[in-house]
Amino acid sequence: MGADLFINLHDLEGLARERLPAGVFDYYAGGAHDEITVRENRAAYDRIALRPRIFVDVSTRDLSTTLLGSVLRAPIGIAPMAFQGMAHPDGELATARGASASRTLMTLSTFASSPLEAVRSATGSPLWFQLYVFKDRGATRALVARAENAGYAALVVTADAPVLGQRERDIRGRFQIPAGVPNAVAPPAGSIPEAPVDSPLAHHFAHQVDPSLRWRDLEWLAGLTRLPLVVKGVLRGDDAHRAAEHGAAGVIVSNHGGRQLDTAVATADALADVTQEAGDRLEVIVDGGIRRGTDILKAIALGARAVLVGRPILWALAHGGETAVARVLDLLRAELDLAMALCGCASLGEITPDLLVFSNRSTPRP
Ligand code: FNR
Ligand code: LAC
Repeated sequence: MGADLFINLHDLEGLARERLPAGVFDYYAGGAHDEITVRENRAAYDRIALRPRIFVDVSTRDLSTTLLGSVLRAPIGIAPMAFQGMAHPDGELATARGASASRTLMTLSTFASSPLEAVRSATGSPLWFQLYVFKDRGATRALVARAENAGYAALVVTADAPVLGQRERDIRGRFQIPAGVPNAVAPPAGSIPEAPVDSPLAHHFAHQVDPSLRWRDLEWLAGLTRLPLVVKGVLRGDDAHRAAEHGAAGVIVSNHGGRQLDTAVATADALADVTQEAGDRLEVIVDGGIRRGTDILKAIALGARAVLVGRPILWALAHGGETAVARVLDLLRAELDLAMALCGCASLGEITPDLLVFSNRSTPRP
């Protein structure tokens, strides 16, 4: 199957759409309410223009970096995404093999359809575990221990989903996770009270996931594990400050790909505030709408250390499995390499804010 048929990530989405059942495509592609934030995540990068430097020796370029101590070939990782078994029979195992082939960081979702130990064995690259904190704190504690014992390198605590956002595509299609797709990591949900519901997935989520989570619970988690904690879903500098105070080693500037609070600020627009507040205390990562190498260059110029990619990985899984996953990651890396060459940057450290021009502004920020 033609992992070679796409030359960019936009083509790939169209190819995946042809292969996926409509309900699954809509669950993956969709966002909350009017999907304004989904679109803005992309538009915010498109609004930033580049001011390249000339006559810089870019004959060799270094894209390597470290993230919480792990060495990465490029500042690119895979975002946690639930139920990848709907995109490919091997689900997260295929994602992990693709990440391994491209030597890229992957993050496994709590709602994975493959067992977390098997995913660890399927990749030689760094692997992080994304945690949803359950009302059942004993089950949460057991899950953290399992991830740590299996060799995951960091715990990503998702903070922007105390309850699930309202995704109207899922409501319209009465979307349910197909019976054959296992919930292989999260503890069993037990008996969920029958209720007339718009979205079975949101109902299930509300039954299990704890909406009462507070900053002090982050300290509880830090006390459970020696893994570094990364708070995912930060959109404000003051919350980055709190994350550092409560023991986080990193934050992910994210609006969950526009799937939670619609009209939430685009992550490219939220990034500078967070990176300024983070200073040297936190490693800052960003996700949402990353589809081009120039998006990655802009994110780094705004102070991010790395980016995570979401939906294109699902499109790759559906289109061509692990080979296509690796190709997506390699394409992004190659596009970043090209953007660096054309901007006069030989290393990531040379990607600075003066390269950016914001519409309606004549002076660079931050
Ligand atoms: C997600 N995301 C997500 N985040 C998380 O912390 N836990 C999860 O289980 C999921 N599940 C999930 C499923 C699907 C289908 C999507 C599309 C997204 C959010 C994800 O980690 C990330 O923040 C966004 O997807 C990034 O935006 P892009 O790259 O998809 O635009
Ligand atoms: C989602 C969840 C499960 O975005 O995080 O669908």
